[in-house]
Amino acid sequence: MIERELTFRIMRYNPDEPEKKPHLQEFHLTEEPGMSLFVVLNKLREEQDPTLRFDFVCRASICGSCGMLVNGRPTLACKTLTKDLPDVTTLLPLPVFKLLGDLSVDTGVWFRDMSFRTESWVHTDETFDPDAPEKRMDNAVALEIYEAERCIECGCCIGGCATANIKPDFIGAAGVNRVARFMVDPRDKRTEREYFEVVGNEDGVFGCIGLMACDDNCPVGVPLRDQLAYVRRKMASAGWRYQKV
Ligand code: FES
Repeated sequence: MIERELTFRIMRYNPDEPEKKPHLQEFHLTEEPGMSLFVVLNKLREEQDPTLRFDFVCRASICGSCGMLVNGRPTLACKTLTKDLPDVTTLLPLPVFKLLGDLSVDTGVWFRDMSFRTESWVHTDETFDPDAPEKRMDNAVALEIYEAERCIECGCCIGGCATANIKPDFIGAAGVNRVARFMVDPRDKRTEREYFEVVGNEDGVFGCIGLMACDDNCPVGVPLRDQLAYVRRKMASAGWRYQKV
């Protein structure tokens, strides 16, 4: 392997010091075999600047905490290898979410708000009986739910979404995927009309302008395009019936 000198241009900004304007700081380091951006950022913090802020927990594309813009594209830093990057790489925090500092953003507040707005829990009148035998679920249905549940809430679909970048209340692909998850769940007794009340609007499923960057950017391959089409179809027909009533 030919040794490369890599340059990283990283956005620096501390919201607690608003008088210091956001700027790009340049760092240099020698590439090593199998190096990921997780290794790069930790090396930079340990060896060059202990004040550099970024988030990692699992290093394995599971926790969703390391989403950032890598050369303009939202992705997980822990699964990004330097061998796939050019000599000069720009790292920016994900837009849309609250900036905590440098590359660190708070996705939790956004996802909690979306969960409340989409009422992300099973709606049922059944009383829970801890002594009753478990009800079986059809395998195919369970797999459909699991597919939507694979979302790791990294925020890459939201950070790269044109609508979410200009409309703070748009629930985005993550929100639509969440709605799809409950729509296919037979335990959730909400009617289409009730779902329509929640997502049949411009902040919901009809706010999407169809650029589908979400589908391109999802680092774990949740089929966001299909989920959007599924929910949109259901909401379009519900809306049509709704108007007729
Ligand atoms: S550190 Fe957990 S997804 Fe990257």
